[in-house]
Amino acid sequence: MTQCISLVLNVLFFASIFASSVVNPKPANGSMPTNGSDLTNVQCRKPFIDILISPVIEGGTKNEIVLYWTVETLVPDPWIILKNGSVEIFKFQMNSTTGSVETNFSYQNPAKPYSFKKQHLGYTAEYKQGVKGKVIATSSMETNPTWMSDQAATIGELSINNMFIPGTHDSGALTLNDTTSERRIQKYVMAQDEPVINQLIFGIRSLDLRVSYYGFRSHKFENLYINHGVSKVQPLCNVINDVKAFLENTREILILDFHGFPVGFGGLKIPHTKPHDTLVDYLQKELGPFIAPPNLTWNAKLQDFWKINKTVILAYNNEKVLKKYSHLLWPPVYQRWGNCQEPDKLKAYMKNVFENPPEGPWSAQVELTANAGKIITDKMKGLRQMAASINYQVTEWFQTDWGKKCNIVACDFFRNSGIVKTAISWNLRRAKNSSCDL
Ligand SMILES: *[C@@H]1O[C@H](CO)[C@@H](O)[C@H](O)[C@H]1NC(C)=O
Ligand SMILES: *[C@@H]1O[C@H](CO)[C@@H](O)[C@H](O)[C@H]1NC(C)=O
Ligand SMILES: *[C@@H]1O[C@H](CO)[C@@H](O)[C@H](O)[C@H]1NC(C)=O
Ligand SMILES: *[C@@H]1O[C@H](CO)[C@@H](O)[C@H](O)[C@H]1NC(C)=O
Ligand SMILES: *[C@@H]1O[C@H](CO)[C@@H](O)[C@H](O)[C@H]1NC(C)=O
Ligand SMILES: *[C@@H]1O[C@H](CO)[C@@H](O)[C@H](O)[C@H]1NC(C)=O
Ligand SMILES: *[C@@H]1O[C@H](CO)[C@@H](O)[C@H](O)[C@H]1NC(C)=O
Ligand SMILES: *[C@@H]1O[C@H](CO)[C@@H](O)[C@H](O)[C@H]1NC(C)=O
Ligand SMILES: *[C@@H]1O[C@H](CO)[C@@H](O)[C@H](O)[C@H]1NC(C)=O
Repeated sequence: MTQCISLVLNVLFFASIFASSVVNPKPANGSMPTNGSDLTNVQCRKPFIDILISPVIEGGTKNEIVLYWTVETLVPDPWIILKNGSVEIFKFQMNSTTGSVETNFSYQNPAKPYSFKKQHLGYTAEYKQGVKGKVIATSSMETNPTWMSDQAATIGELSINNMFIPGTHDSGALTLNDTTSERRIQKYVMAQDEPVINQLIFGIRSLDLRVSYYGFRSHKFENLYINHGVSKVQPLCNVINDVKAFLENTREILILDFHGFPVGFGGLKIPHTKPHDTLVDYLQKELGPFIAPPNLTWNAKLQDFWKINKTVILAYNNEKVLKKYSHLLWPPVYQRWGNCQEPDKLKAYMKNVFENPPEGPWSAQVELTANAGKIITDKMKGLRQMAASINYQVTEWFQTDWGKKCNIVACDFFRNSGIVKTAISWNLRRAKNSSCDL
C-alpha cells in the first residue's frame, strides 16, 4: 500500500490552468454586503451562527477562524463572541443581520485523528445582547460524524433525493501537506484542505470524484488516480480507504459521484486496458459489502438503506458502463454548474435553477470557476480566494427557501461555509414539513 501515501502533482502547469476555476476575490472582512432580502425568507427560524475556517493563506498563516451569522432581526446591542473553552478570546459588535468577521486566531487540527464519535473542538461562539448580557444563541465547533443516524427517528423517512445533502466539489483535490505557502500550480488545483476522512467526519455526505487512469497494457488498481482536470493529484486508494474506514465505523449514507474521467479512460485506443472495468472491480473489491443496489432508486428513504444495511451509493457518469454494471452503479447526479466567475452571476444562475429545480438527484455546484486568461496572470489569486469570496454568501442563500428545495450542495473548502449545519437544520424542518424551527 505504499503507493497510497504519496501525493503526486504533475507539472502540466498550463494544462491545469485550463481545467480549473476563479473570480475577483473579496475575502471575508467585517460584514458582508449581501442581504438575501430578494430571496424568500421566513421569519421563524433560530438565529444561525457558525464557526468557520478561512481557506486563505496570508502572511504565512492559514486556517483563520471566522465567525459567521445570519439572523432575522438583531437584538439591541448585539455581539458575537468567540470562546476558547470558557475563556472569551474575541468579540465583535454586530452591525448587520448577516455577516462574518475574521478573528485573527488560527485553528489547528489536533495531532490525533478525529474520532467516529462526535467531538467538541474547544471553541464556542455566542450571540449576545450586550457583551455581558443575555446569550441568544450558541454554536460550538464540532464534528458531525453521525448526524444521519443520530436523527434516524426524525429524518429516516426522508428520501435521499428529497434531503439537503452537504457535499464537496472536487472532493479529492486536496492539499495533504500542511503548508502555509502554496506553489503556483497548487493554487488552481487544490479545492479542499481536509482529507476525505475529515470531510465525512465533519458531516459531508456526497463526494464529487474525478478519476483518471495512468497506465498502458495493464489492469492495475494502482493506476487509478484522483485528478483535477488534467492535473494528477493523488492515488484514488487514499480516498477509497477513507470512505471504507468511515463506512466501517458509522451507519451514515454516502454518495460517491464518479463524475468525470479526464485522463486515460477513453478517446485514445489503449490496447488490453479497460479502465472502467478496472475502476468498477476496484470499487467492488474495496467497498463491496456496503454498496447499495441501484434498484433501491433515488427515491429510497434513509430507513430503506439501513434496513438492508447497505450504506454507499456509487453514482456513475457514463451510460455504457452504467448499463454494464446495472446491479452496482446508480445513475449520475445532475450537476447544476454555472461556470460563473463572479458571485452575483452565480447567484443569478442559481436563482434561475431554483425557479424550477430539477428532480433529484442533483447538485448545486456553488463554487466559482476559473478563466484561463486570468489564471495565467494569477489575477484571481487562486481557488482559496475564490472560495472565500463565495462561501459566506452561499451559506446565506441556503438559509432561504433554497434550503427547502435543494438536494446536494457542493462547496470548495467546505469548512469555510456553514453548509453542514444548514443542511442538518433543513432536514429536520423537511421531516416536519415546515420551513420553521419548531
Ligand atoms: C478589511 O477591511 C479593511 C477596512 O475596511 C480594509 O482596510 C482591509 O484591506 C480589508 N482586508 C481585506 C483582506 O480585504
Ligand atoms: C460593520 O462594521 C465593520 C467593521 O467595523 C465595518 O467595516 C462595516 O462597514 C460595518 N457595516 C455596516 C453596515 O455598518
Ligand atoms: C436588508 O433587507 C431589508 C429588507 O428585508 C432592508 O430593509 C435592509 O435595508 C437590507 N439591508 C442591507 C444591508 O441591504
Ligand atoms: C485555546 O486553549 C488551549 C488550552 O486550553 C490553548 O492551548 C490554545 O492555544 C488556545 N487557543 C487559542 C486560539 O487561544
Ligand atoms: C493577529 O495575530 C498576529 C499573530 O498572533 C499578530 O502579530 C497581529 O498583530 C494580530 N493582528 C491583529 C489585527 O490583531
Ligand atoms: C509535501 O511535503 C514534502 C516534504 O516536505 C515535499 O517533499 C513535497 O514536495 C510536498 N508536496 C507538495 C505537493 O507540496
Ligand atoms: C452491516 O454491514 C457491514 C458490512 O458488511 C457489517 O460489517 C455489519 O456487521 C453489518 N451490520 C449489521 C447490523 O448487520
Ligand atoms: C434489488 O437488487 C438486489 C441485489 O441485486 C437483489 O438482491 C434484490 O432482490 C433486488 N430487489 C428487488 C425488489 O428487485
Ligand atoms: C409530511 O408530508 C408528507 C407528504 O405530504 C407526509 O407523508 C408526512 O406524513 C408529513 N409528515 C409530517 C410530520 O407531517
